[in-house]
Amino acid sequence: MNVKPITAKFVAEIEDIDVRSISGDEFNELHRAWLEYGVLRLRNQPLDEDELQTFSANFGPLEEIPLGRLPEVVRRKIKNRFVTQLSNIVVDGKPIGGLGNAEASWHSDMTYVETPPPASVLLGVEIPETGGDTYFADQNAAYEALPDDLRARVAGLTIKHDAAHTSIGSLRPGFEPFDDPREAPGAVHPIVITHPETGQKTLYLGRREWAYVPGMTLADSEALLDALWAYAARPENVWRQVWQPGDLIIWDNRRVLHRRDDFDQNARRLMKRCQVLSREAITG
Ligand code: SIN
Repeated sequence: MNVKPITAKFVAEIEDIDVRSISGDEFNELHRAWLEYGVLRLRNQPLDEDELQTFSANFGPLEEIPLGRLPEVVRRKIKNRFVTQLSNIVVDGKPIGGLGNAEASWHSDMTYVETPPPASVLLGVEIPETGGDTYFADQNAAYEALPDDLRARVAGLTIKHDAAHTSIGSLRPGFEPFDDPREAPGAVHPIVITHPETGQKTLYLGRREWAYVPGMTLADSEALLDALWAYAARPENVWRQVWQPGDLIIWDNRRVLHRRDDFDQNARRLMKRCQVLSREAITG
């Protein structure tokens, strides 16, 4: 197995490995690389759902998909309770997966819960000719780039992470609409966290939309969040993944943000994702 950095400090390509037959030692090496780089890409991994689930479970117990929220037609076909489909494909008038063909804004996964998933594993299955690229932004670098005064201002502060909306801006089932971020339901986490496994300081912003800094006026909260987001995805700290079928990307939600381009609804895009369950609260 070969670990080849793609950018200087984050994102590495893992070569010469078939994750279907990964050994314990190889997984340990891959895990070390994941902690070091935050994002790993492995090409040519044409996994079925069982194989994706088995490989992903090396990182820890997996999050079960929220079956209750899925349409009956999709629920009936689900074989693997830990594999989520992201797709614009429609069968029998119903979408077979989430997010459709829309742009997804910068976020890390499920920061609106108390114990968000540390790892997400995303497999490209069907890929459009153009569009649907996924971008990752290094939040260690974002933290390092903060000016001293801004870093001092956010020490000890938190953000409330909105649970009601998805990263494409739609309201999740079961939530009522609101128009004031202070009313958003969701977990509260420190703005700067200490990565529990690497000990590194990281900016932990979640998603800009509907975020709120508790204890501030709305105007002050908005101004502070805008100031922080100016550092979150600077081009020098962003890497773009142009997908091929069989690409497997594993990222560390505690260390990176990601977003996705929209794409033509007439094209087909199908991704399969596993997320690792956490029982650990995010700490500053
Ligand atoms: C996401 O998790 O935001 C979707 C990523 C993708 O579809 O590429």
